Amino acid sequence: MKLKLALALALAAMSAQAAEQAWLDKSLSADKRAELALNAMTQQEKLRWVLGHFGSDFGNKTRKHPAALPFSAGYIEGVPRLGLPALFETDAGLGVATQASKTPRERTSLPSGLATTASWDRALAYKGGAMIGAEARASGFNVMLAGGVNLLREPRNGRNFEYAGEDPLLAGVMVAEQVKGIQSNHIIATMKHFAVNNQETGRFVLDARIDDASNRMSDLLAFQLLMEQADPGSVMCSYNRLNGVYACENDYLLNQVLKNDWGYKGYVMTDWGATHSTVESANAGLDQQSGWEFDKSQYFGGALEEAVANGHVPQARLDNMVFRVLRAMFDKGVVDNPVAEGGNIDYAVHGQASRAGAEEGMVLLKNAGNVLPLKAGAKKIVVIGAHADVGVLAGGGSSLVYPVGGNAVPGIAPTSWPGPVMYHPSSPLKAIQALAPGASVSYHDGKDPAAAARAAADADVVLVFAQQWVGEALDAVSLSLPDNQDALVAAVAKANPKTVVVLETSGPVLMPWVDQAAGILQAWYPGTSGGEAIARVLFGEVNPSGHLPATFPASESQLPRPKLDGDPKNDTARFTVNYHEGAAVGYKWFDLKGLKPLFPFGHGLSYTQFAYSGLAATQKDGKLSLSFKVTNTGAVKGKDVPQLYVAPLNAQWEAPKRLAGWDKVELAPGESKQVSVSVDPRLLGVFDSKSKTWRIAKGGYKVLLAHDAADTKAASITVQLQQRTLNVNGK
Ligand code: BGC
Repeated sequence: MKLKLALALALAAMSAQAAEQAWLDKSLSADKRAELALNAMTQQEKLRWVLGHFGSDFGNKTRKHPAALPFSAGYIEGVPRLGLPALFETDAGLGVATQASKTPRERTSLPSGLATTASWDRALAYKGGAMIGAEARASGFNVMLAGGVNLLREPRNGRNFEYAGEDPLLAGVMVAEQVKGIQSNHIIATMKHFAVNNQETGRFVLDARIDDASNRMSDLLAFQLLMEQADPGSVMCSYNRLNGVYACENDYLLNQVLKNDWGYKGYVMTDWGATHSTVESANAGLDQQSGWEFDKSQYFGGALEEAVANGHVPQARLDNMVFRVLRAMFDKGVVDNPVAEGGNIDYAVHGQASRAGAEEGMVLLKNAGNVLPLKAGAKKIVVIGAHADVGVLAGGGSSLVYPVGGNAVPGIAPTSWPGPVMYHPSSPLKAIQALAPGASVSYHDGKDPAAAARAAADADVVLVFAQQWVGEALDAVSLSLPDNQDALVAAVAKANPKTVVVLETSGPVLMPWVDQAAGILQAWYPGTSGGEAIARVLFGEVNPSGHLPATFPASESQLPRPKLDGDPKNDTARFTVNYHEGAAVGYKWFDLKGLKPLFPFGHGLSYTQFAYSGLAATQKDGKLSLSFKVTNTGAVKGKDVPQLYVAPLNAQWEAPKRLAGWDKVELAPGESKQVSVSVDPRLLGVFDSKSKTWRIAKGGYKVLLAHDAADTKAASITVQLQQRTLNVNGK
């Protein structure tokens, strides 16, 4: 009897608690749950909810928050009495990163963001996101600061490897897939860096200037597409100013564009050190100060309390900040699926996923005389340069993932921020040896070009690895390969015409030796299984199918800014970067100016060939759809990326044509597939700032079905479009 009573009392207590903590009821909507939780919070709890702490020690100024995960990016206190967990934040887009540390967490790194984008494969981007999100969860993180989609306006930008190239459609769609994959783990992803944060030089002080319409058709469009398709739980505002105002206190950017025009429901956090005010920021739409130790002050601590008390920031604004964070937590499953450190990670399986990403993203730029794939009969192979005997290069900065097995080439400067210079221990040389069992495969470090040329002279094939290390806070000083590597490639290619160059670079580089090298493979920063991936592509175990997500210029003089603005040695003097090219970014600029690049956007060769036929258009309810047939006309299985571009015959756009869609199709020799692609109407119109509408002009538009943006043999048809006006979201 006593037992029964105790049980009944316990049950009653539990249901009373459940009634009190109604926000934990999974059957309610995220909005309702956030509202209920908000109402239960005290003012002090609310204030703590919008103040982020750095997850690592900060110089000798501050010790990390005791509850933060070691050497992590950030931490926000939870409210345990209400069953609301803390937020544990980790970088970033390539995998679970660690802040500078002697005891980093060692995890799987995807190939660079540009490599993933170069795959043009939506499913692959999703899988990569799902994999790194799973590692984040298993490591105890519920916020992943991943979702970088800044457009590649500046090929020297030190963070291009974290992003997704120069085209807003391609970048928006591919990063959206990654974000969906990450969030499938019931954690929050972060679209960043909002916005127009397109170079690292002077990032804390520069003022990016661009008009609203151009911005909406380029940089902002990439963010808008990502937001619509993936609904990231959070957005990170950037360091720079936009048209005079810091991004994190920019009413236009946060309140008007993101929250009002686009209807964003998640929360805006600052980049680390990007908060500059309390009242302006809060009222401009900022919801959470991150890693406050990087800022001059705890702007969202006591200062915010005071600002609310004296009415400079309405209580309703503070409530909305908290509501947005809560809503994202309920919506993405953070509250219902608590994270814990020490989860199981299957590195073998994740290594395969990373390798698949690297393989799909590699771009075969040149293949004269079918020097690739390497023939089984090659007796002597000489591998040269870039530490290809032991590993593959990674980019520097907060996104750096420390690999299982440690740095293959420790000690290269800079060894501290934005270093260490990291080589993932996946040896191309060993992987090549494994695929060429009968051959002599030797390595030469390439430091002395003449000696390397001598070693290469009588080889059946020479593989020269060339590299460019850049990182966050550190743009490339030029697009030329550093450390005399151009001389190395030229000397080797002169000594042996069967020279193949493998590039491990963040993004575009110049290639003065392009005519001498028989083959060129762009391998980007290929991630923790990169060595194996490179070897498998070189030997034809994998047929390359990557296509450039960025134009490779023939010289820096072709760029909108031949010289990078700002002074890398002076990060404090404010200056302006005038994006005078507007929305004509990348191939659009090259088209507009009639410039011939070294390699065009969309370019990528295969070990087979593809032909297109039957391009046709249909229009239903104003929606343009295009269909066509792709055929593998070669002798081996392969994947193609047919690209659709639209060029107006009369209407005035920022440039002669825009990418309007693509697909990636795998075909056996002789096989054909029918493909159909529908076009987002915003890509057919021009943004009008005054009315905040997209306007499609009546008239003829040429649709091109092309292998790349400079394809002179592209199939084409002309479609007639009616005049249409669409709202700010293209509806
Ligand atoms: C970077 C962000 C990163 C943050 C936290 C900043 O330096 O710009 O991308 O998420 O640090 O590590």
